[in-house]
Amino acid sequence: MKEIITLVGARPQFVKASVVSRALRDAGIPEVLVHSGQHYDAAMSAVFFEELGLPEPALNFEAGSGSHGAQTAAILAKTEELLLSRRDRTLALMVYGDTNSTLAGALAAAKLHIPVIHVEAGLRSFNRQMPEEINRVLTDQLSSLLFCSSETGAAHLRAEGISAGVHITGDVMHDAVRIFSGLATEKGEALRLVPLNGGAPFTLSGPTALLTVHRPSNTDDPANMAAILEGAADFSGEVIWPVHPRNHDRLSGLRIPPNIRLVKPLPYLSLLQLLAQAALVLTDSGGLQKEAYWLKKACITMRRETEWVETLEGGWNQLTGPDAAALRQAIGNPPRTPWQPLYGDGYASQHIAAIIKAHFGL
Ligand code: UD1
Repeated sequence: MKEIITLVGARPQFVKASVVSRALRDAGIPEVLVHSGQHYDAAMSAVFFEELGLPEPALNFEAGSGSHGAQTAAILAKTEELLLSRRDRTLALMVYGDTNSTLAGALAAAKLHIPVIHVEAGLRSFNRQMPEEINRVLTDQLSSLLFCSSETGAAHLRAEGISAGVHITGDVMHDAVRIFSGLATEKGEALRLVPLNGGAPFTLSGPTALLTVHRPSNTDDPANMAAILEGAADFSGEVIWPVHPRNHDRLSGLRIPPNIRLVKPLPYLSLLQLLAQAALVLTDSGGLQKEAYWLKKACITMRRETEWVETLEGGWNQLTGPDAAALRQAIGNPPRTPWQPLYGDGYASQHIAAIIKAHFGL
């Protein structure tokens, strides 16, 4: 039987692919996993493969860092080479989300007339300053099967003239939270956080907030970073900040308030453990807004807009931008409405596998 080639490259894609890979395996659909090498530090990559039970990638392009053009081009050329060598055996190329790996893979496959499957399709921020937005819009245009997390995604696609191959399956990260939260609890070990600058690991004590910042619009602007740290310092407890490598070069210029503790990037199970214990999430990540929601935690998003508009209902998620005063105010506002389930039933990957089977007549 022909295979699906799955191209992943960045941290959140390892999480998404891990649950879909299981579902494909269970459905008897052969899959070959390929790593673009966009994320390469062990803490950003290898540890996820180990923890999530993702098979070793069959191939790693080792594209590494670079400008958007250089990174995207490197992955594009390598994907094309791979697809040319396996053309007769390839059923489709599967990509996730909105990274440079996503767009590069989709472009290579579409030009070789290999169907593209896009998981997390139709997501829009309507902010073209974000590289991710450009990656999403273009990937959706090139895709034959488009899996949306909610009706909102399908509506965005319709507005762009895309209706064939669109399916609302729910969000595969919901599956991951369902499956791996249980595992994180079962592990039963106290969460040990490793300070960024070395030093002895420590455990949580008292009320905790989780802070993450990786959007270039925040990390690359010292005024925005200062405002975020100043606002976050208002949380009445410890703020744990697992630092994304994108921040490294600029940390020395920042004043870190005493209740903010910088730690190394967290493996996924540890992140879920931390989330389970946290009272509040402060983030500019897309995935964490949803993960916070599924674990029924209040979230503050330091961006001006969100793709996950449903989480804003009832104040479960609040948009503050990188603004200290707005952050301070949001920290004092708890959610106003009861929690409602969002983004599917936690079995999106099974729905995806079933649709792929039917679509390709497997
Ligand atoms: C990328 C995605 C973003 C996704 C995020 C998850 C794009 C355009 N952005 O952003 O959508 O939400 O991944 O984390 O694809 N670096 C390391 N070690 C690593 C990985 C990166 O040091 O293992 C450094 C790179 O040198 C670079 C910076 O971190 O300077 C950013 O990495 P990059 O892959 O360009 O984008 P992310 O910010 O991670």
